[in-house]
Amino acid sequence: MTKKCGALGGKFKVNFVLLQTNMENHEMAKLERASFGSRLGVILATAGSAVGLGNVWRFPYMTGENGGAVFIMIYVACVLLLGIPCMVSEFIIGRNGQANTARAFRKMGGGTWSVIGYMGVLTGFLITGYYAVVAGWCMQYIWASLIGHMQGSPEYFQTYFAELSTDPVKPVLWTVIILLLTYLVIEHGVRDGIERASKLMMPTLFVLLLVIVAAACLLPNAVSGIEFLFKPDFTKINSDVFLAALGQSFYSMSIAMGCLCTYASYFSRQTNLTKAAVQIGVIDCVVAILAGLMIFPAAFSVGVSPDSGPSLIFITLPNVFAQAFSAMPVVGYVISLLFFVLLTLAALTSLISLHEVSTAFIQEEFVVTRKRAAVAVSVTTAIIGAFCSLSLGAVDGMVFFGRSLFDWFDFVTGQIFLPIVGFLTCIFIGWFAPHKLVRDEFTNWGTLRGSFFHLYLFLVKYVCPLAILFIFLHQTGAV
Ligand code: PHE
Repeated sequence: MTKKCGALGGKFKVNFVLLQTNMENHEMAKLERASFGSRLGVILATAGSAVGLGNVWRFPYMTGENGGAVFIMIYVACVLLLGIPCMVSEFIIGRNGQANTARAFRKMGGGTWSVIGYMGVLTGFLITGYYAVVAGWCMQYIWASLIGHMQGSPEYFQTYFAELSTDPVKPVLWTVIILLLTYLVIEHGVRDGIERASKLMMPTLFVLLLVIVAAACLLPNAVSGIEFLFKPDFTKINSDVFLAALGQSFYSMSIAMGCLCTYASYFSRQTNLTKAAVQIGVIDCVVAILAGLMIFPAAFSVGVSPDSGPSLIFITLPNVFAQAFSAMPVVGYVISLLFFVLLTLAALTSLISLHEVSTAFIQEEFVVTRKRAAVAVSVTTAIIGAFCSLSLGAVDGMVFFGRSLFDWFDFVTGQIFLPIVGFLTCIFIGWFAPHKLVRDEFTNWGTLRGSFFHLYLFLVKYVCPLAILFIFLHQTGAV
């Protein structure tokens, strides 16, 4: 009997100790929850997530093609009326949860709603791999610029990119290198890693952007490029243009990928969420417009018509820079180099935010150290990235239903998961989340006036979900 009691007592003791340790871990995790150290850190890190390849390779072209200044106005309206409310919603969920995206949704809405959080994490995770491939190409182009390979005929640039993207080794190696860099930042934590890197990289990015804009606008015939970008052409406006602006604003602001929610979990209780979202939206728009001012004047000065996507930045622009500055090869060399450094910085800060989504998730859900979580994410996304890269032509048999693996990742995340997660997030915040919690987060527990709260709620309840539904249906060809 005594023995039994002893055994039971032992077991109880072990359980008690385990419980105590679990509680301690939990309390420690709560106490040790990382946070950004300053308001500037909050803005630069989150703007770093938003400012990415999307600003450079899609926005300028869309503007030029869809009515110039009119498109910019529609785009800014989309950012203000739809992008910013969605961003604020993710901030609310993230800061309230003080945890990774999945747990933050669970905390606010219970089990079923955590499915949106899981989808957000999955979206972020899946994008990380293929975004790293493109970021890797940018790094290869830095190297090529450095050793003077960014000079030649238009055909040369075409062949150069075709050979690089279908090479079985080089792009995979660069993918690994860029993920390693991302890992090094993430491993250092929120304040010493993400915040510090953003404070260094974002100002550098702005300076580079301004230098290239100045150089491009000083080229002969630059004015016609500026005109193309800003001349309002009302005849080009139709429903497609609205939907394009809407889709672009969501992608560009990193909505529905878990990034905003995860970063907001590191915001302090003093952060004014609406103000932060407006500032980030403004920075994102300004960078996108400046990217246009960097691309069009240069392209028009040499009579090349710009396009969009990877071919714009990896084929057309290197050719444009080489031609535009052919009379001043040193300037051409420097501009080409700076341009790819800028692109790499833009891609890297976005990649860091994407990596952080999965790192925070693994760290908290599987209760492992940050380092282990970051290693797991880097290794798995490097594998995904490698397969995506190889699917572009290096290895046969990686094209499914007419799309390469790379394109599938892009399609599934951008055109399916993004609208679904965005739509459900709005529905959740607008209709189901505890109203008081949403209001408290919006007004910082009554310390802010919150004059826009009703407008915000109206937009999130009705306007945003309907707009997202439209994009989705439009993409599927239903409308
Ligand atoms: N917003 C980034 C861009 O403009 C892309 C991105 C999407 C980054 C989602 C992180 C998360 O390129």
